[in-house]
Amino acid sequence: MSKIRAAITGVQGYVPDYILTNEELEKLVDTNDEWITSRTGIKERHILKGEGLGTSFMAVKAVQGLLDKTNTKAEEIDLIICCTTTPDMVFPATANLVAAEIGATQAFGYDLQAACSGFLYGLATGSQFIETGRYKKVVVIGGDKMSSIINYQDRATCIIFGDGAGAVLLEPTTSGNGVQDFILKSDGKGEAYLRMKAGGSRYPATLETVQAKEHYVFQDGAMVFKFAVTNMAEVAYSIMQRNNLTADDIAYLVPHQANKRIIDATAARMGLTDENKIMLNIHKYGNTTSGTIPLCLWDYESKLKTGDNLILTAFGGGFTWGAIYLKWGK
Ligand code: UT7
Repeated sequence: MSKIRAAITGVQGYVPDYILTNEELEKLVDTNDEWITSRTGIKERHILKGEGLGTSFMAVKAVQGLLDKTNTKAEEIDLIICCTTTPDMVFPATANLVAAEIGATQAFGYDLQAACSGFLYGLATGSQFIETGRYKKVVVIGGDKMSSIINYQDRATCIIFGDGAGAVLLEPTTSGNGVQDFILKSDGKGEAYLRMKAGGSRYPATLETVQAKEHYVFQDGAMVFKFAVTNMAEVAYSIMQRNNLTADDIAYLVPHQANKRIIDATAARMGLTDENKIMLNIHKYGNTTSGTIPLCLWDYESKLKTGDNLILTAFGGGFTWGAIYLKWGK
C-alpha cells in the first residue's frame, strides 16, 4: 500500500475590514509611502478593530469558511492546532476557544508558537498525526493580531505588521500528493534581535514594563533581515536539493511575507526567475506573522493544480525558520 500523506483538502483565510494604508501611517510616524514600498513591498495591511476581539475571532471566521467549503461538520474534526504569537490570552489556548466557538466537540487542540514560522511548524506537526493513521481530519490555523503588540509610534515595526488568519484542513491521501518533506530549524540566540520582552514569566506586566513600552515588538530590523535572507534562502534551496527538484519542477514558492526583498533573495537562490511562480500578497496584508503562508495559499488557490510542487518557507522570531515541500491536491 502506498504511504499515507497529509493532503491539504481546503484552505480559507480571513482578514478584518479595516485597512491601514501607508498614507495613514505617514500621519502617525515619520515615514512615507515611497520608503515603505521600496524597502518592504507593503502598501496596506488589515487591522482588527473592536473591543475584546482577539486572534480567535479571525481564526473562527477562517475555520467556519473552511468547514463550509469542504463540507465538513465541526464534530468531525479530530485536532485543531492554532499557530499564533498573539493568543487571545496566555491561557487557555486559542485553539480551545476556536473549538468551542465552532462546535468542534470531538476535537482536542493546542497552540503552537514559532513566530513567523508558526504555520510551517504547525503543518509539519499536524501532518504527523495524519501520516501515522491516528487522525483523519486535522485543522491547522495560522493567525495573528499583530496590532495588539505593535507600538504605532515606532516606525521600525508599525509599517510592517498586519492582522489576519488562514486555516487548512489536512486529510489522509495515498495519491502521492500532500506533505512530502520538511526541514525545521531554530536558534534561541535570535532573542536579542526580535522579541516582546515583558508579559511572560520573566517580566510579568507591571506599571514599569508598560511605561517602558516592553509589551510591544522590539525588532533590530537590519540584523533580522541579514539572518532572514541567508537562512530562508538556504533552507528553501536545501529542501529542493534533498528532493532532486530544479526550479523548473516548482509550480510556486510560497514564502513568508515579511519583506519583498527577502522573498526575492530566496527566489534567486532557488533559481526561480519567473516571478509568476512566487506567491505574493505582502502589498495588501503586510506581515501577518503566522498568517502569511495560509493567506497566500488562499489567495492563489484557484490557480493551483493537482500535483503542483510547492515550496513553503519562512523565517522569524526565535529565530525559527524552515521549508516544506508539498504536492498540491487530495
Ligand atoms: O517576519 C519576522 C521577521 N522579520 C523580518 O524578516 C524583517 C526583516 N527586516 C526588514 O524587513 C527590514 O530591516 C526593515 C523593513 C524592518 C527595515 O528596512 P532596512 O532597509 O533594514 O532599514 P534600516 O533599519 O537599516 O534603516 C535604514 C534607514 C535608517 O535611517 P538612517 O540611519 O540611514 O538615516 C532608518 O532610521 O531607514 C530609516 N527608517 C525609516 N525611514 C522611513 C527605518 N524605518 C523607517 C521608516 N520610514 N518606517
